[in-house]
Amino acid sequence: MKHFATKLIAWHGKDGRQGLPWQSVRDPYAVWVSEIMLQQTQVATVLERYPRFMKRFASVKKLAAAPLDDVLAEWAGLGYYTRARNLHACAKQVVEEFGGRFPSDPILLEQLKGIGKSTAGAIAAFAFHERAPILDANVKRILARLFGVGGAVQEKAVNDQLWLLAKELLPKNPTDMPVYTQALMDFGATWCTSRKPVCISGEKKCPFAKDCQANLSDQVLLLPRKVIKARSPEFDCDMLLLRHGDDVLLQRRPEKAIWGGLWSLPESAWRAREKNSASRVEKSEGNLTAMELFKLVLPDETTSIALKNGKSMERGLEIKHVFTHRRLWMQIWHMSGSSAMKFSGGDLQWVSLRQLGKYGLPQPIKLLLQGLSLARGDDLKN
Ligand code: ADE
Repeated sequence: MKHFATKLIAWHGKDGRQGLPWQSVRDPYAVWVSEIMLQQTQVATVLERYPRFMKRFASVKKLAAAPLDDVLAEWAGLGYYTRARNLHACAKQVVEEFGGRFPSDPILLEQLKGIGKSTAGAIAAFAFHERAPILDANVKRILARLFGVGGAVQEKAVNDQLWLLAKELLPKNPTDMPVYTQALMDFGATWCTSRKPVCISGEKKCPFAKDCQANLSDQVLLLPRKVIKARSPEFDCDMLLLRHGDDVLLQRRPEKAIWGGLWSLPESAWRAREKNSASRVEKSEGNLTAMELFKLVLPDETTSIALKNGKSMERGLEIKHVFTHRRLWMQIWHMSGSSAMKFSGGDLQWVSLRQLGKYGLPQPIKLLLQGLSLARGDDLKN
């Protein structure tokens, strides 16, 4: 297809997103942080959180030297915490293996923790003006429509074909790479959208209407072909909200688990959720004893300390949380503890509600505990 890059850049000048704080930045550190944050987070949220992150960790060296907990705490609320762990690991790699300077070659960038092929292309294009293609979900959609690619984009052969197209379409002039790359992202996010592209809604006139195979053959909404996903499985778990005065008992989650490395409430193993709600309620409603709960959520050696000192238990909120591939219902059980409950060392720790801001917490747990803290009249600073 002729003049794609030129037309797209012209489109961006008129209708693309302008003036975002990470645009027209060539510092690879700043570019990298913004790209990782933008991966699964809305631009509006990133606009709020990106400047804060950059202030907190002003350079790759500062990020590499920071404790992981500080990075997770700063990331709290953005979700997909693997990104924060990878960010930290990648910063260390850049410092240790590249003397604190990001490489410009997308092949080398891709070797770094948490940087996939498309993100490597974006960083190389934005920061180093490398003629490196990107191919995120938005770009796949644009190309599948433009060239009428009918195979499922998850298939390797189709994916390879799209990468080839992405490469062929690049502008000849390397200095055009940043605006071209941003234009591709913006065009996919705002005009060539999945469900309401402008050619269908009739709101705007697509500059590629006469070139687009999908448009010419009335297949726009059918491309890219979607693979139907099974409904994600559902789970139940019990969580202990043990409080003593200002403190709440938190447990650090294992690195490899969901919410890995974050601080959460002690929880039971997950059980597949019963399909039939009547039998589910009958099984769990009010009939879990404190002893049973402790056995479910605490390690063996601490169960007996807790049992001796625990006071009455109350059923609290049931919180639903939707992950990418599963849904979880968390049953919160409130209990008041006592000073005799000592959890020293290990992954269990009493944490003051006022100090929550220093800990990386899963978002639903953070909201729950902030609610408690506000109910106590604490002045929250996080
Ligand atoms: N998503 C990923 N990178 C982006 C960028 N640079 N601008 C807008 N959305 C993005």
